Amino acid sequence: MIVALLNQKGGVGKTTLALHLAGRWAGKGRRVLVVDADPQGSALDWSEQRASLGHPRLFGVLGLPRETLHRELPAIAADVDHVIVDGAPRIAGVARSALLAADVVIVPATPSPLDGWASAEMLRLLDEARVFRPDLIARMVLNRCATRTVIARETAEAMAGQEPPVLAARIGQRVIFAEAAATGQLAHELDPGSLAAAEIAALAAEVEGFKR
Ligand SMILES: Nc1ncnc2c1ncn2[C@@H]1O[C@H](COP(=O)(O)OP(=O)(O)OP(=O)(O)O)[C@@H](O)[C@H]1O
Ligand SMILES: [Mg+2]
Repeated sequence: MIVALLNQKGGVGKTTLALHLAGRWAGKGRRVLVVDADPQGSALDWSEQRASLGHPRLFGVLGLPRETLHRELPAIAADVDHVIVDGAPRIAGVARSALLAADVVIVPATPSPLDGWASAEMLRLLDEARVFRPDLIARMVLNRCATRTVIARETAEAMAGQEPPVLAARIGQRVIFAEAAATGQLAHELDPGSLAAAEIAALAAEVEGFKR
């Protein structure tokens, strides 16, 4: 399955969730490859940091920040169970290319009552892709959520009309994700019993449920 984490908005959790989904699936025995489609190379940096600190390799990370992604992904996906594309903010060409090859698009969004959860540009790219890819599955995932009760109260109404639809699995605002980013590790390695680890497990299961 090719899963692309895309949002033209920066800093919403594309890289964090790409690496954590990869780690969860790899931990379950899947063969996983992360394709870093962002010229900033954050996923590659994490992987390099991880290697330099001597942590064991969990999955491969390949840098491919190109508009020709869709031509490469099918061959890359043939050798593994899941390819996870970590998208780039603002670069429409790369997102468009990922949308041509992905089975599932996950749009991370930070729930805020002040603005749209997915960027207008992201929605436009999704509409455009659906012309060629009527079977494309697109979902939003709420990241950096406040406590459940607050979210339930503030966003229940907003959730209803969201396009793309919002996944049931949500990720809280948790410091452990920042610690993981800084140390080349993943939340479940730092604390297997953490809420973050449980939330990632639920997200990974929900997304894998789309496998055809
Ligand atoms: N659920 C979370 N709780 C706390 N911090 C988080 C969470 N998700 C992401 N972060 C932090 O927010 C910052 C941005 O996250 P991340 O790099 O994953 O976003 P991104 O969408 O990949 O950004 P970019 O668009 O620049 O590639 C990072 O410092 C990350 O550690
Ligand atoms: Mg990123």
